[in-house]
Amino acid sequence: MDATIDLRSDTVSKPSDRMRRAMATAEVGDDWYGDDPTVNLLQDRAAELTGRQAAMYLPTGTMCNQVAMHAFVRSGHFVVCEATAHAGRTEVNSAAVLSGIAFHYVPGASRGLLTADQVAAALRPDPYDVTVADLVTIENTHQVGGGSVMGVAAVGDIAAACAAGGVPLYLDGARIFNACTVEGAPVADYAGHATAMMFCLSKGLGAPIGSVLVGDHDFVREARRLKVLFGGAWRQAGIMAAAGLIALDEGPKRLHEDHANARTLAEGVAAILPGSVDPLTIQTNIVFADVTSTGRTAEEWASLLAAEGVLVTMVGGRIRMLTHIGIDAADVQAALAAWRRAAKAAG
Ligand SMILES: Cc1ncc(COP(=O)(O)O)c(C=O)c1O
Repeated sequence: MDATIDLRSDTVSKPSDRMRRAMATAEVGDDWYGDDPTVNLLQDRAAELTGRQAAMYLPTGTMCNQVAMHAFVRSGHFVVCEATAHAGRTEVNSAAVLSGIAFHYVPGASRGLLTADQVAAALRPDPYDVTVADLVTIENTHQVGGGSVMGVAAVGDIAAACAAGGVPLYLDGARIFNACTVEGAPVADYAGHATAMMFCLSKGLGAPIGSVLVGDHDFVREARRLKVLFGGAWRQAGIMAAAGLIALDEGPKRLHEDHANARTLAEGVAAILPGSVDPLTIQTNIVFADVTSTGRTAEEWASLLAAEGVLVTMVGGRIRMLTHIGIDAADVQAALAAWRRAAKAAG
């Protein structure tokens, strides 16, 4: 048994035994030719679930985002997105390198969440036609916003602002099923508001790899061409899609456990370091702790915690922790015990 408690991300979870068995026995074909039956099944299932015409399976969420932006945005034009959005900030400037895209960053009104008014203001035409936005991208849940959830109605309002501005809406739904869990809404409610959407199988849903892009037939046809352009046209990908099908089937049902664990973690850290986190803001599986008042940096805290067997990440000077399928309630208690020891060591 691995004694380390890995809270760095919800991407670190390992495939279940059922996934591994399905992977070993998956029917496969060459996905470049579109004849991998397991990939096709996953894509059909994803399209059905999201209520969209078509879906495409890709290795990563980053590739989904980049393919979508390339499809919608002309080189030299802008994407309107939140100031800390993954697509703009964390994807090593791929959009600039691969597609000549610039970002019009709008700081979220609250916890990384944009409002329809903000989007409408950002889409107001530039009187000199110098700044042209071809796309609005929103992220739900919002990672740097602390796993914050944008409700279905708010996404609908943003979609209406996009429609009024004549610009498509792309939803980076890496963790959209976490939002669905909180909202009690089917994923189709969210997907129906966006021109295109992606979701990750390899985060809260627990698959070892893969993300899915959904939209209408024309969009997905163009996305298939871009998959080749970006080197993502994999071959017997059914081995991975087999695990993805299980993730899609089983994953969403248990996300409420991750959310409860994150809330307990936040309450525990708040008790150890008062003011570092407000547990009431924890809606999903992401916890940020601001350790500046301790006089030690996030890096120092990460080292202290690692020495106690807990792995975390540092984002924007804060400690970030995510709960996932590999973390149960006992792990949360063990992680809090490690926090207490680290706090003692920190003095
Ligand atoms: C909101 C969001 N979008 C996109 C991605 C990219 O996904 P991937 O790591 O599969 O490339 C991430 C990864 O953490 C994410 O948090």
